[in-house]
Amino acid sequence: MERSLLIIKPGFLKYEKQIKNRIKKLGAKITHEKKMVLDDVLITKHYAEHLQKDFFPELKKYMQSGEVLVMCAEREKDGLIADIRQIVGATKNPEKGTIRHDFGIGRITENVIHASDSVMSAERELNIFFPEMFQNAEKTK
Ligand code: PPS
Repeated sequence: MERSLLIIKPGFLKYEKQIKNRIKKLGAKITHEKKMVLDDVLITKHYAEHLQKDFFPELKKYMQSGEVLVMCAEREKDGLIADIRQIVGATKNPEKGTIRHDFGIGRITENVIHASDSVMSAERELNIFFPEMFQNAEKTK
């Protein structure tokens, strides 16, 4: 089983249905979701490895400019994270047919959706947004 954290970014929630349909076509289901405005604590935790990057202030401002939809996608068959990253498309110049190309507006910052880039990142990110997913696992350790 593999799972990924997805965030539909501000301004793109109008494509929620189309984006979910593309995720579901991979055989994944959305097990958790919530709409929210990201506060400073969540932003800082989620983008911990990018805090020192030049683009971080712009990214932070944009990510807090409106509601986002945070989701957990899950699939029994391994390889979900790579499959999702493929249909999401690259940060820069995403290819035609990808989510970032088809629903995007051609700006790096406003690139429609975040998707976890590895199993380790996914677990770390899911723990930030959906800590309840991990609570029972902790108790049984
Ligand atoms: S890097 O530099 O390789 O670590 O960047 P990358 O992994 O592609 O992206 C990390 C997140 O930062 C966003 N990003 C940017 N935002 C604003 N301006 C610029 N120039 C920029 N470059 C990268 C990128 O969209 C990633 O955010 P998420 O939310 O993970 O998609």
